[in-house]
Amino acid sequence: MPGIEIQPLEDEHLAAAAALLADRHSRHRQAEALLPEFSDFRAQLQRDLDHEQAGGVVALSGDKVVAHLIGRVEEDPLLGDRRAIVDFAGCAAAEGQGETIRDLYAALAARWVAAGATRHLALIPASDEALMDPWLRLAFGVQYVWAVRETAAMKPVEAHVEIRAGKPDDLELVAQLDRSLYEHQAGPPSFSGLAIPSDEEFRADWSDLWDDPELYTHFVAERAGRPVGHLVLFRRPTGDLRVPNSNIDLSHAATLPAARRSGVSLALTGHALTWAHEHGFRSMTTDWRSVNLLSARHWPRRGFRPTYYRLYRALP
Ligand SMILES: CC(C)(COP(=O)(O)OP(=O)(O)OC[C@H]1O[C@@H](n2cnc3c(N)ncnc32)[C@H](O)[C@@H]1OP(=O)(O)O)[C@@H](O)C(=O)NCCC(=O)NCCS
Repeated sequence: MPGIEIQPLEDEHLAAAAALLADRHSRHRQAEALLPEFSDFRAQLQRDLDHEQAGGVVALSGDKVVAHLIGRVEEDPLLGDRRAIVDFAGCAAAEGQGETIRDLYAALAARWVAAGATRHLALIPASDEALMDPWLRLAFGVQYVWAVRETAAMKPVEAHVEIRAGKPDDLELVAQLDRSLYEHQAGPPSFSGLAIPSDEEFRADWSDLWDDPELYTHFVAERAGRPVGHLVLFRRPTGDLRVPNSNIDLSHAATLPAARRSGVSLALTGHALTWAHEHGFRSMTTDWRSVNLLSARHWPRRGFRPTYYRLYRALP
């Protein structure tokens, strides 16, 4: 861009980049009150920079920092290849400077591609259309959604289900429910490309769900004495620009295929929101793949509002 110089992000730029991020987050909090309150944005930048293989670039107009981009390259644990990620604090621009994001991406992505990462992800505030726009014109699209809503005492749902606490005996059910999510996401339009783990692997993944009740709370829905669905709440750590204080995360939910669309999740979600409200949690976060049509339609209708989008581009 004329009049703009792209340089590596150095310590001398951090204060100005933190100010850009503070502005971005303040706008974000005006759009969504259930985002964490912060004062130390430099620490948020440092958090993103502290990862192995992380680096950043800034756009300068004269000696003024008008935009920054920070990303890291990492191994993808699921697909077994390398990907590059711009994390929650990694992208901000001054008003009217969104276009410079495209130059910053060109500079940083060259390093990512040289490091073998050809799938690129950027976490951008869902309400920030000005910041989203340059990414859309870089061939990115929405892949994943993080969202939040208030907890509340909900009216019980008439769905002919009983909800009880989960227990270690439910391992087989939980493995089956997670398999049903994998199978659903392997199909169109998700085409996840993920190998579906064996029953043993599913059981191993979930075997510690009941070990620490301070970490996970598990609810199972039964109909006529048979389990038909479940929901897992997780005390997700705070400290990033997404998770507010006094929050609990809805980290897994699924209904057996034969029982879907009969109110099982409605009853479980209502129960979980009421439970969280009664236990002093002010908000509930969750997330979903935007190409999972079942969850992408279900959670917004349950009152969850998008906070961040994960934008995605696969080269070429
Ligand atoms: C997403 C998922 C958990 C939803 O579960 P479900 O039990 O089918 O959901 P419900 O039956 O409670 O709700 C589905 C719809 O039926 C309606 N419904 C069905 N029975 C109802 C009843 N008795 N009273 C009121 N509404 C009812 C709901 O209002 C809802 O409609 P809406 O979304 O248009 O508002 C389920 O589709 C699933 O397991 N998907 C695969 C796994 C997955 O994607 N998990 C989420 C990962 S993020």
